[in-house]
Amino acid sequence: MADAATLVGALRAAGETTRLRLLALLADGEHSVKDLTEILDQSQPRVSRHLKLLADAGLVTRNAEGAWAYYRLADDAAADLGRWLVARLDADDQERAGDRQRLDAVRNAQQAQAAAYFAKVAGRWDEFRRLHVPEAAVEAAILEAVEGREVDLLIDLGTGTGRMLELLRDHYRRAIGLDASREMIAIARAKLTAANIGHAQVRLGDIADLDGNGAEADLIVIHQVLHYFDDPGRAIAQARRALRPGGEMLIVDFAPHDHEFLRTEHAHRRLGLSEGQMAGWARSAGLRVAHLTSFPPTNTAEGLTVCLWRLEDEQDSR
Ligand SMILES: C[S@@+](CC[C@H](N)C(=O)[O-])C[C@H]1O[C@@H](n2cnc3c(N)ncnc32)[C@H](O)[C@@H]1O
Repeated sequence: MADAATLVGALRAAGETTRLRLLALLADGEHSVKDLTEILDQSQPRVSRHLKLLADAGLVTRNAEGAWAYYRLADDAAADLGRWLVARLDADDQERAGDRQRLDAVRNAQQAQAAAYFAKVAGRWDEFRRLHVPEAAVEAAILEAVEGREVDLLIDLGTGTGRMLELLRDHYRRAIGLDASREMIAIARAKLTAANIGHAQVRLGDIADLDGNGAEADLIVIHQVLHYFDDPGRAIAQARRALRPGGEMLIVDFAPHDHEFLRTEHAHRRLGLSEGQMAGWARSAGLRVAHLTSFPPTNTAEGLTVCLWRLEDEQDSR
């Protein structure tokens, strides 16, 4: 429920073509102002002005992250009005179809950029991944989290060089590691063979294409992957499709930070993930945060805090 003034404000804000297009784009997920500017092909000050009007009316929320700001649809009553309007927009409308095409092009360009980065660093990833993070403590906590849990199938999304498959080898009956980088997959495959881990396999694939046919994973691990996504919530919802009812998701990623160079030099998109964001993304995916552990950096000058989230199926009462 909302009072009349709030609803009138929301109606006024939504009642304009560009702002309706923005609402339609944000109904599909979180986007940065930078991407929205590219998709709408309008100047950044103009797009920012429209976004501010939508935010002032309670239709969208803004999250500033370093030099970028991300927007998403808000969760309250005013935003319901936005969702209601977007649901009634003709999906085949020419302008909408054009926006969707440009959105796909922006996403593809970002993926290509990330793929080029991972192709370049794949050979040195095992050395890279230890830099500035309390790896031993995080891995011990991951092992502790799965201890005693029956895992018939584990799926490791964004498996990279397959470290999680190796670490958890004694805790699953079978495992699949999925990664979008051919170079990473080749290294992971060689690693599994060398370590004689025959009950895990790796596959080339995209988290966005998980279809959920036969959703059967008991445990899904997403270790240091989500900060490469503009919309980590969307990736979590996609991953959720492969989880069996009552299954659990382990997510390891950085806490919010201000190391902008990780975007420019290391293909990161999000400067860490906050507690509140994770709670919201989990809720939208039908999961809940059962446990959060934070690991302070080993090197305090450049180090980053790492978080381990355990997400449970909302219906689970383990
Ligand atoms: C930082 S590495 C982490 C690898 C591994 N989980 C680890 O912690 O060592 C991120 C991995 O996610 C993969 N990745 C990024 N976007 C992906 C997507 N959309 N689908 C599948 N894998 C993706 C990259 O290719 C890369 O191997």
